[in-house]
Amino acid sequence: MDERNATDEKLVDFGFETISEAEKTQRVKGVFDSVADNYDVMNDLMSFGLHRLWKRFAVMAAHVRPDHQVLDLAGGSGDLSRLFARRIGERGLVVISDINGEMLRRGRDRLIDSGCNDNVVVVQANAECLPFESGRFDIVSMAFGLRNVTNKLDAISEMYRMLRPGGRVLILEFSKLKIAALQSIYDAFSFRILPRLGEWVAKDGDSYRYLAESIRVHPHQEKLASMMRSAGFERVRYRNLAGGIVALHDGMRF
Ligand SMILES: C[S@@+](CC[C@H](N)C(=O)[O-])C[C@H]1O[C@@H](n2cnc3c(N)ncnc32)[C@H](O)[C@@H]1O
Repeated sequence: MDERNATDEKLVDFGFETISEAEKTQRVKGVFDSVADNYDVMNDLMSFGLHRLWKRFAVMAAHVRPDHQVLDLAGGSGDLSRLFARRIGERGLVVISDINGEMLRRGRDRLIDSGCNDNVVVVQANAECLPFESGRFDIVSMAFGLRNVTNKLDAISEMYRMLRPGGRVLILEFSKLKIAALQSIYDAFSFRILPRLGEWVAKDGDSYRYLAESIRVHPHQEKLASMMRSAGFERVRYRNLAGGIVALHDGMRF
């Protein structure tokens, strides 16, 4: 059964805290309002640039074609959308969508700066209840967004609804490290170095503490695969990247 508080609100995780759904949505907004300006430089610092390779791998695995319609959910500062836009050319379309106006503004500006605005549309929306008609897209992606979504199953069901039969979903997200010998180094990096780096570069250690905690409470590889199957996806599989620090899940709608 769902966990609920005294006023019967459903409770969800926010890092290691358990809070109401409404409070999580607000606090996640606060995190991304705060980190938006330094988001990209922090991504490079935190992952030693590896996030760029993980995102390229996700876009390659999408098997995107020039006429495809792509929905990039929680698209933020636009890395995945930019890679998709370059591949689909003029005949296709990328819709970059995010709940957060600050992140989306940054995404839009970066897409314009890189000359990728002709085949990209920007839409502010919550991935849990999307304003697009069902079966509209060939590809739906979400990179490093699902952890932050209040109702993960609702978002996965919406991904399913958005896809046409034969369409593919890609979820790139932090996951469970599979190399036991590296666990203590990874923990020290996540809980000691990351918040300090966040404090130093983005003047916001708390948001990066949340990042580290949210990774640990996010469903691990098998659990996320089973959530995707329960939403209707078929041929669900995942590939571990960097020893499972990140996993790319994909699945099809038939
Ligand atoms: C870590 S960023 C990822 C941005 C980008 N996809 C990337 O890989 O760099 C997470 C994004 O998820 C967005 N987000 C959080 N909850 C959301 C929701 N319910 N619906 C849509 N976007 C959401 C945040 O606003 C933020 O931009």
